[in-house]
Amino acid sequence: MLRKIRILLWALVAVAIAGGGAYYSLGRQLPTPSLAIGGPFRLAASTGDVVDSEKLKGRPFAVFFGFTHCPEVCPTTLHEMSSALGKLGDDGKDLNVLFITVDPERDTIEFMKSYLTSFDPRIVGLRPTPEELPQVAKAYRAFYEKVPMSDGDYTMNHTALVYLMDRQGTFFGTLDYEEKPEVRLTKLRRLLKEGQSRSR
Ligand code: NI
Repeated sequence: MLRKIRILLWALVAVAIAGGGAYYSLGRQLPTPSLAIGGPFRLAASTGDVVDSEKLKGRPFAVFFGFTHCPEVCPTTLHEMSSALGKLGDDGKDLNVLFITVDPERDTIEFMKSYLTSFDPRIVGLRPTPEELPQVAKAYRAFYEKVPMSDGDYTMNHTALVYLMDRQGTFFGTLDYEEKPEVRLTKLRRLLKEGQSRSR
């Protein structure tokens, strides 16, 4: 219960920040340009390749943070994204979906690759190095923390939002944890439609 409340609180913080970012991007003077959500990254991927945010340009993407040992939030999010991709079908072919681990210690490329076989094959896992992780998380205003457990093991708390980025790599909005599938689909369709004429 406490975990759920913490996740919810962090999601609210992230939504507030995201809302602020979107508000500022409407042409207000930027007191701090760093308020924008997102930023360049180049990370090792579960496909065996490297994913470079520069090369994603021209197509929208959805990105979220988590870890494969996550008991609830991540598998649910991955399941929800898989289901959305299934429903989008061919309409979703432009969409890249990225899952960035906040637990690179345990989430090796091999481990992520095998874990992700349970979900839509279009979802790509990214593994930042321990040095890269704080940078990419900061760029997305994503929170994560290691939480020791009584048995000597550990778990991770993390932001439960899915960030939607448009074809230019600019923050577009979020998908929220356990929101209605119809709402999620509407947001994704809007993202896929946005800027389509401009890029073609
Ligand atoms: Ni999780």
